[in-house]
Amino acid sequence: MNSDESLVVVAIDGPAGSGKSTVARLVADRLELEYLDTGAMYRAVTFAAMNADCDLDDAAAVGAVASALALEMPPSGEVVVNGHDATTAIRGPEVTAAVSTVAAHPDVRAELVGRQREWARERGGGVLEGRDIGSVVFPDAVAKIYLTASEEVRAARRAGEEGATDRDAVAADLARRDALDSQRTADPLRQADDAIEIDTSHLSIDEVVALIEELVGRARGL
Ligand code: DC
Repeated sequence: MNSDESLVVVAIDGPAGSGKSTVARLVADRLELEYLDTGAMYRAVTFAAMNADCDLDDAAAVGAVASALALEMPPSGEVVVNGHDATTAIRGPEVTAAVSTVAAHPDVRAELVGRQREWARERGGGVLEGRDIGSVVFPDAVAKIYLTASEEVRAARRAGEEGATDRDAVAADLARRDALDSQRTADPLRQADDAIEIDTSHLSIDEVVALIEELVGRARGL
């Protein structure tokens, strides 16, 4: 038996703009679990590699940056990378443009997947949000949710979050990142066979959270 079977892991995957972060945070609050934004970890490695003037296509160099990364992500939401508060910088356009390249390197993924598993084991579980949580990180998660939304809705949400006015540019960037994230060889974005898909295009945040809470309750026999 795999010791992970006793963990209460809720896996929330899906493409950018599907509503994962907002929903995962609220689900964690409702279930009194901690929340881990795994995308922020890939962004943190990207930030550190850029600061080290690393060639982002150099898999070995970026992998070394990932292995050496001192990363703190307290529940209050800050992301501290090698001692620097990078909470804002990791969401900036430079990191956003480069993160898919970094996330495609197998060594980077192996390092971060290991840290994500350790994070959950230390806490008895948690709500993990990302692209490969249900398919790779915790295939035995109690509940696996795959959030989607139409391209139009996803672009509108991202434009709102970023305060961007050029909706077409945001849509083009999302499409580019989706393509990179789903076509890479290492752990591409994909829906796990047994994940439950929720299309959030026409649902309120509260409706999505209630649906997930119900699914987790049912899966746990509560
Ligand atoms: O969710 P986000 O936009 O912050 O994710 C940033 C990038 O990291 C995105 O291009 C996909 C990648 N990512 C990944 O490959 N695996 C994860 N578990 C989470 C994010």
